[in-house]
Amino acid sequence: MTSIRHLGHAGFLVEHAGLRILIDPWFHPAFLEAWFPYPDNRALLPEVVAGSYDYLYVSHAHEDHFDRRLLERLSRDVTVLVPDFRSRAMARRLARLGFRRQVRLGHRERYRLGPDSTATMLLDTSHKEDSGLLLDLGGLRFLDLNDCNTPMSELPSDVDVLAAQYSGAMWYPNAYDYPPRTMVAKTAAVRADLLDTLARKVKLTGARTYVPSAGPACFLDPELARFNDRAATIFPHWEDVAADFAAACPETEVVRTAPGDRLDAPSAPGRWLTDPDGYLADYRERRRPEWQAYHAEPYRPPGAEEVREHFARLQRLNRPLLADYRQELRIEAGGAAWGLPLGDLAEQVELEDCPVDPGYTIRVPPRALRAVLDGRAGWEEALLSMRLSLHRDPDVFDLTLLSLLRYGHQPAQTRQLVRERSGRQGELISRDGYRLQRYCPHAGEDLGHAVIADGVVECPRHHWKWSTTTGACLEGGALPLFIEPEEPPG
Ligand code: FES
Repeated sequence: MTSIRHLGHAGFLVEHAGLRILIDPWFHPAFLEAWFPYPDNRALLPEVVAGSYDYLYVSHAHEDHFDRRLLERLSRDVTVLVPDFRSRAMARRLARLGFRRQVRLGHRERYRLGPDSTATMLLDTSHKEDSGLLLDLGGLRFLDLNDCNTPMSELPSDVDVLAAQYSGAMWYPNAYDYPPRTMVAKTAAVRADLLDTLARKVKLTGARTYVPSAGPACFLDPELARFNDRAATIFPHWEDVAADFAAACPETEVVRTAPGDRLDAPSAPGRWLTDPDGYLADYRERRRPEWQAYHAEPYRPPGAEEVREHFARLQRLNRPLLADYRQELRIEAGGAAWGLPLGDLAEQVELEDCPVDPGYTIRVPPRALRAVLDGRAGWEEALLSMRLSLHRDPDVFDLTLLSLLRYGHQPAQTRQLVRERSGRQGELISRDGYRLQRYCPHAGEDLGHAVIADGVVECPRHHWKWSTTTGACLEGGALPLFIEPEEPPG
């Protein structure tokens, strides 16, 4: 007998033949007290804390998956299935919390859980550290991809139940200061990408059943209430996308669950579905002390010297990433503003003599900047909180800068990014008469699934496009692709 119970967001409790496996349990506010589970799953917290488990799986370090406050309350008498990321940071954090029994699993590594059950780890093999897990439970194949983007060529097939993200979990574009029309267009493009990626995952895995999961969260701090607008953001409800999904994947059954539901017995949709405004107002009151904690924390205003030292350290840790790079970042916090020249080239040129317009400006509340400077949050967490606002000119994604901010504290990730960008030196594949780099220079998708037509290569994940003739990026970003004809003309 196998039972899969949805605990809300990306959380599941899987029971099979006496085994109990707890997956990504999330109950407490994440990212500077900005995100809360939606719908509210707190009623399940006591039984999840009191439960005993054979295995715990935490897919990655984002706080809506790695809920430290919850993990601190769990029995340590459990074996943790740990994705074997390059940085090893997650394994160390779990060990510091007292989870000493760890099974570290690399990409596609399989582990026997019981006489008729296995777990297979699936990593995002790019510089990002995220994972999914395939559970084979007496022949029932449950694939939990949460928000992980394992290369499409490496997804397993013959999946019975797929749990995966359909709603966004990113600050782009809604934290940028785009004019309204631009915002509408960019939001629509990201939502279309999310659904397209999901439909591809469903088709490649052959999923017979799909469970909408891993979002959207909700924002209970009134300062962030605008991000609960399901029409204007990349955080739609399932009901907003269900018809498009049905058109794209007509063969796949959808099981819509509320926190606590077993997949084989979902409850009728609750008030959270039909009355989101009233529901959120009540939820906000119930959690008032938790979102107010962000505003109540005493803090010291950030100073110029510590901001400069923070970025100097990030640069020292990430020299290979910043080779040949030169850009100025502007940080604004409260009434203060700092221009920060970044990159090795910036060190060789006096910017005062040769001023550079800042490509990116980040407006950050002083409280959030204090949390970053004190190491209580990384830039990744601060950005995900949606408490920051960004401006970029030109409106082009700067992978180097964003990677420095997001992963710079774990240089193992930025070194991998440098390898991915190495074009001709990296892994190459043959497609349609071309030799091209296998992994997308944006976020590492396997270009074995790229569309190549009319002189353009299009990545299946975020749809960046490159010229097959020059490798120049035509749409999406600014990073070139290594591509050449398989047989040189002549
Ligand atoms: S992974 Fe984002 S465009 Fe390829």
